[in-house]
Amino acid sequence: MSSFDYLEQNQVSWTKAAPDYAEAGRRNWAGEPAWGIWSVPEEGVGVLPDVAGLDTLELGCGTGYVSSWLFRRGARPVGLDPTWAQLSTARSLREEFGLHFPLVAAAGEAIPFADASFDLVISEYGASIWSDPYLWLPEAARVLRPGGALIFLVNGTLLMLCAEDDENVAAEPTMRRDYFGLHRVEWPDDDAIEFHLGYGDWIRLLRANGFEVEDLIEIRPPADATSTYRYVSLDWARRWPSEEVWKARKK
Ligand SMILES: C[S@@+](CC[C@H](N)C(=O)[O-])C[C@H]1O[C@@H](n2cnc3c(N)ncnc32)[C@H](O)[C@@H]1O
Repeated sequence: MSSFDYLEQNQVSWTKAAPDYAEAGRRNWAGEPAWGIWSVPEEGVGVLPDVAGLDTLELGCGTGYVSSWLFRRGARPVGLDPTWAQLSTARSLREEFGLHFPLVAAAGEAIPFADASFDLVISEYGASIWSDPYLWLPEAARVLRPGGALIFLVNGTLLMLCAEDDENVAAEPTMRRDYFGLHRVEWPDDDAIEFHLGYGDWIRLLRANGFEVEDLIEIRPPADATSTYRYVSLDWARRWPSEEVWKARKK
């Protein structure tokens, strides 16, 4: 089991990055659900179940827009994030849009809620990549009610094998990293620490925590999609999955 040694480093990194995410956060609060770096509309990808009446928890809510989408669809969301600067943006947007739901300062590795408190736990590039899955996933299982859903979006595993060290350079169709042993990933030019797993490891971890895997959505952006991120081209992402959404249910 890994330790928490990365958490503070990631909080520092997200504190620095927070101002750069505020405007995109506002656009997303104002818009309809659209996922990942290609903003693929919900209708094209089918990430969300019917959430009306559900208690939902977003792990690593950042600017909080995923929870705002859930709120508008009738859920009772809670957004959780360990970085005050990100929560501060989320709190301003919550005031601006008048959608009042709780925003809690905490990390995915130690969720401050009782067992079986939620019907849905969701994470879009939140705890799903910035927290060790061997720590946050058991916590997600703990706070979910039996029959509850876990949905999380991550970078595609193939992309993580091909990605260049420099995030401003687009990945080629060349494997640069080992698949076996994929777990903690540190980029030379970035002070944040990420976590990525191979498919077998994800499945074994989900099953070990009492989940049944329901789907793995490999997001394929439409031919006219655009992204502000440079680490993957549209051509690459049209040929291989650059983003993946795991859907699992607690038995
Ligand atoms: C890409 S951002 C947020 C994603 C969100 N969908 C958004 O764009 O507003 C990633 C977030 O993960 C949070 N984070 C970092 N470490 C975390 C951890 N251990 N548990 C939960 N969230 C974490 C960061 O503070 C940051 O706000």
